[in-house]
This record gives sequence, C-alpha cells and structure tokens, in this order.
Amino acid sequence: PKPSGDPSAMQMKSYACQRRTPLKHHNSFLTEALEILSQNAEYNDNEGRSVAFRRAASVLKALPCRVKSMEDLRCLPCLGDHSQRVIKEILEDGSSREVESTRQSEQFQAMKALTGIFGVGVRTADRWFREGLRSPDDLIRTGQQLNRAQQAGVQYYNDLQKPVTKVEADVISDIVEKAVHSVLPGAEIQLMGGFRRGKEVGHDVDFLITHPEEGKEEGLMPKITNWLEEQGLLLYQKTTRNSYLEKMDGPARPPNNMDRFERCFSIFKLQTSAVRYKSNFTAPAEDVSTGRENEKPSERDSEESGWRAVRVDLVVSPYSQFAFATLGWTGSKLFERELRRWAGQEKNMSLSSHALYDSKQNLYLRAKTEEEIFAYLGLEFIPPSERNA
Ligand code: GTP
Ligand code: MN
Ligand code: MN
Repeated sequence: PKPSGDPSAMQMKSYACQRRTPLKHHNSFLTEALEILSQNAEYNDNEGRSVAFRRAASVLKALPCRVKSMEDLRCLPCLGDHSQRVIKEILEDGSSREVESTRQSEQFQAMKALTGIFGVGVRTADRWFREGLRSPDDLIRTGQQLNRAQQAGVQYYNDLQKPVTKVEADVISDIVEKAVHSVLPGAEIQLMGGFRRGKEVGHDVDFLITHPEEGKEEGLMPKITNWLEEQGLLLYQKTTRNSYLEKMDGPARPPNNMDRFERCFSIFKLQTSAVRYKSNFTAPAEDVSTGRENEKPSERDSEESGWRAVRVDLVVSPYSQFAFATLGWTGSKLFERELRRWAGQEKNMSLSSHALYDSKQNLYLRAKTEEEIFAYLGLEFIPPSERNA
C-alpha cells in the first residue's frame, strides 16, 4: 500500500452509499466549485449533468486529504472529463473561469434568489426569469400571482434565508415534542435531515414522528398542527398526503395502508428569547412584540420583533415503516439517491422511504432498524454522521 497522505492510496468505492462521507472534509475549494456547476445545470433543467457534478464533488468529500495534483485523482471514480478540467484549472490557477463566470452570471444569481423563495421551484423561477424578474422584490413590485406557499415565502424571505442553528433546532424540537405528546402520549419524535447528520446549521428542521402501536399515528398530523396553531406557533402550514410515493417511487410502491404517510411543510414562529435562554448566554427576555409583523419582509428585523420564521418539515410514519422513513429522511439527498440506485442496479431491489422490495423474491423485506436495511442491501452500515455525501 502507498503511504497514507496520498489520496490515491485509498480504494474509493463508486456509489456514495458505499463510502463514509464526513461533514468536514479537505477539499471544499474544489467541491464548492463543482457544486456551482451542478446547481447551474439544475437551473437549466439538465438533471444528468447536475448529478454528474454532484457525484464528482462527493468523491472529493470522501478523500482523507487535500488534493494537490491531478496525480492524486488517478484511481478515483465518478470524475468525468468536464469535472477533471475544472479541477485542473483550480489546481493550476486557483480558480476556474467557467465556475466564476457562472457564479457572476445574471441567470445564476436570479435563479438562486428566486428558487430560494419557499414554494418556488426551478420551472416557476425560470418562467419569471424569462419575464425579466430577478428577485423577491421584483415579484412584489410587479404584483405577480403567488400561491399561498409563495406568499409566505416572499413574506418571510429574509428570515428563511438565515441559516437555522442547532440551538434553534433544539428549541423547535422541544416545541414539537410538547405538541405531539399533548395530542398523542407515547408517540416518538426524531430529529432528521442535516441535523441528524451532525450539521451545525440547516435550511430547515426535519422531524419524523411515529407511535409504537401501529395505527395510533393515523390522523395525527392535523391534531399536531391544530395544537401548534392554537398556541400561535405557526405562520404557515400545508399538510399533504405523501405524494412523493406516487410520483417518484414506482415499483417500491407499497400496499394501500401506506397512503397515509403524511407530511407537513410549515413555517414556525420562533421566539428569539427562547433561543437565547436555551443557549444559556442571557436570561430569557420579555417578549417584545412591536406590532410590526405585517411589514415588508426586507424591513422586518427579528432582533426587534422578538421572533423569527423557521422552516419546519414534519413527517408521520407508521411504526412498521419507521426504519425506512428514518433512512429516507436522514439524507443527504445524494446519499439517498445513491442508495436507491444501488438497490436497483446492483441488487434488483427497490428502496423507498416506506419499504424495500426484492424483485427477485417478489416480496417486501421488513426491517426495524437502519442497520437491517443496509444488511439487506449488502452494504456496510454507514452512520448518519458519515452520510454527508
Ligand atoms: P438542510 O435542510 O439544507 O440542512 O439539508 P437536509 O439534508 O436536511 O435537506 P432537506 O431538509 O431538504 O431534506 C432532508 C431529507 O429528507 C433528505 O434526505 C431528502 O432526500 C429527504 N426528503 C426531502 N423531501 C422528501 C420527500 O418528499 N420524501 C421523502 N421520502 N424524502 C424527502
Ligand atoms: Mn433539512
Ligand atoms: Mn426538509
């Protein structure tokens, strides 16, 4: 074996779900550049290209040290010609012209600003861009038709742009726990998404809720949101049956009882005094409502108003699907994507957040833990903190 410190010394597996990817790595100077190109491809509706750049970035995140020369990349998978060109340029010149011009481009910046609005996807943002709109303020100024989610997205734009801290996530965890236990004692609540992977900040806070007695979780979401609404803790909420299942999961589509997998996209009203209290820096302050709640987002200051808006995702899962839901909602998005690709391409199985279907045996494989699912898939168990692909 080659001496350690040489990135090519390690044998890099080609699926992200076969590798450990820590949160902090040694190659952000390269991965950030590749992720700009990935994001730009997504804005241009080129999913294949977007995933290719994301996979290349992910391989570099899994390296034990900083890439110093193209030699270091010799044995690595997933690095296409284009990614290699970009890496080479950065190694030689310190930056890539393509990446920098993309970053500066009007289209990239407008798409970033517009898709950054809660409730706005690439298609809508692209239509607005082609109509000459560039920012949330342009939408207000020109009186664009907005749906309820987008209205909330524009209204709370500044708050929702600010990263959510772990302390804020913990305060919200306490609130969600209180809400859930008030309406269903014995229910279990788990923090998901980036925070479960050990991130210190996130764009939202994700929770998975279940009850050990199967069936008890039925109809739970409206009870939770009603409780939260009565307490004045919700600025926005939309509960949907899990359409993800029908849209994306195809053959893994499980039996009928799984249609009740519910999801709630919400925006919480988080008192900043509660966050200060939790972080133990200062004593809890009085709630200073200034009556400025209805002003334009750009003029609202959470320091002064005493609260901020935070995106929260709630998911309710039947106990029998909890392990699959846990695996499916921990992320990262690329890690999830790679798990499903591995299952399909290498194992002839179909994985979703509800179930694992074995096409060879024609049966659903039951699991109580994430470890069991990795074992069914013939994969080494990767803990959440190493799923930052
Ligand atoms: P930040 O929130 O930006 O910190 O990162 P995150 O990893 O938490 O991302 P996000 O909140 O968008 O998603 C969390 C996890 O839930 C990811 O693994 C997603 O793949 C997964 N996820 C998001 N939407 C859906 C969905 O509709 N269905 C399922 N099953 N999973 C989803
Ligand atoms: Mn999240
Ligand atoms: Mn989320």
